Amino acid sequence: MPSPTPVDTAAKSAGTVASPRRRPCLLIVDDEEGPRDSLRVIFKDDYDLLLAENGAVAVDLAKKNRIDVAVLDIRMSGMSGIEVLERLKYVDPAIEAVMMTAFETTDTMRQALRLRACDYINKPFDISTMRAAVANAIQRRTLESEIHTNAEKLQQLLNELQNQKIEEQMAQTRGEIYASIIHDINGPLTVISGFIQLMNQRIGNATRLEVEDLEFIKDRLRTITRQVTNCIEISRRYLGFLRRQSDDVPRIGVNQLLTDLGHLVRVHPSLRNNEFAVRPLSQDIAVRMNGTDVIQVLLNLVVNAFQCETKAHAVEIEGSVVPQPLDLTAFKDGPQNRLLNVENFDNTAPLLMLLVRDTGPGISPELLPKIFQPYFTTKGARQGTGLGLNIVQRLIKEAKGALHLHTQVGQGTTFTIYLPAAPLPTI
Ligand SMILES: Nc1ncnc2c1ncn2[C@@H]1O[C@H](COP(=O)(O)OP(=O)(O)OP(=O)(O)O)[C@@H](O)[C@H]1O
Ligand SMILES: [Mg+2]
Repeated sequence: MPSPTPVDTAAKSAGTVASPRRRPCLLIVDDEEGPRDSLRVIFKDDYDLLLAENGAVAVDLAKKNRIDVAVLDIRMSGMSGIEVLERLKYVDPAIEAVMMTAFETTDTMRQALRLRACDYINKPFDISTMRAAVANAIQRRTLESEIHTNAEKLQQLLNELQNQKIEEQMAQTRGEIYASIIHDINGPLTVISGFIQLMNQRIGNATRLEVEDLEFIKDRLRTITRQVTNCIEISRRYLGFLRRQSDDVPRIGVNQLLTDLGHLVRVHPSLRNNEFAVRPLSQDIAVRMNGTDVIQVLLNLVVNAFQCETKAHAVEIEGSVVPQPLDLTAFKDGPQNRLLNVENFDNTAPLLMLLVRDTGPGISPELLPKIFQPYFTTKGARQGTGLGLNIVQRLIKEAKGALHLHTQVGQGTTFTIYLPAAPLPTI
């Protein structure tokens, strides 16, 4: 049995540098030597040729070489051309095939087409028809491989774009977090700076301090120390965001938090001559949220409530416990209402409800969709960063809470926070 004969033809003219482009590779499979040889003669100048006298040899060659087109005789002893085609497609689905038929049934031809044979030629074939069929198959193979390469390149590009987007988003989040640290630390720093000024005024140029001066200074120093601790906690919290925090959220008594917040608000410069009241829970409960975060959320809302107009108005905070899960279908977003963070909300009773209500000017329906966007502010550039509500939303989301807003132009605004509650920790 003759062995398969790979025929590698030399460069057409001596002296020319061989083209770096690979010549297409043609596999000729026929168990009769005559047609095999005439096909070799027809194609040897234009293609790299591999010749096989039976199916087994053809499949073996396909495993070892990158074949572009196979010319297959259908009627062969042993494995039929259809079987060979099936196996070749199994080795490399991209191989194109031209089938040679004698008197095949339409059923056989249908089978060949189902196996995605490119064309079929009647035996004995004429040279130009065979050339055209092979050229056509090569073209199809090239096109398909180009499509494949382009699809791969496109996918690669899409992946790169996706990665780029994620990186950009991460950089943006990081930027927002740094800006948030500055925003949140600004409050305590204002208090600290105010108290230092007060102490300076009190001490003046005195060389001796009276007992009551000392008491005054000690008291202010306590507040300053609390505010400095606040600053440290705020920066720790945000740095924790960057590192992703663990899930074990401490449980904090809500009424203690409300008392602490009251102290903070009463010395806050934006209080001015507005009315302010805190209504604690009738029965204390714990909340599954970091204490500084709760204070930060309420403080941002309260400061907004104070700053929403210059005319004196009332602001109050009220806490209560909701014993049932919320009926979320009852909340409808509209020109006066918004419910945020529904997707992430842990709606398991009991829930802590904290509301911040003001009798300010309300928020117009045009502004309502914008106010939670980072950097959106209606205050002057020197007065507002537009980050307050974005921080509120982010902290609530982190705690798996929800935020509802109801506003009425000319009447005022109420922000209601719902947070997962828990029994008070036993000491
Ligand atoms: N209680 C409120 N009443 C009326 N408008 C409000 C109220 N709370 C927020 N807004 C509107 O939402 C905008 C965005 O608020 P946000 O707290 O995000 O930023 P800001 O208060 O403008 O800036 P910063 O928080 O840095 O001081 C405000 O500029 C204001 O127009
Ligand atoms: Mg604000």
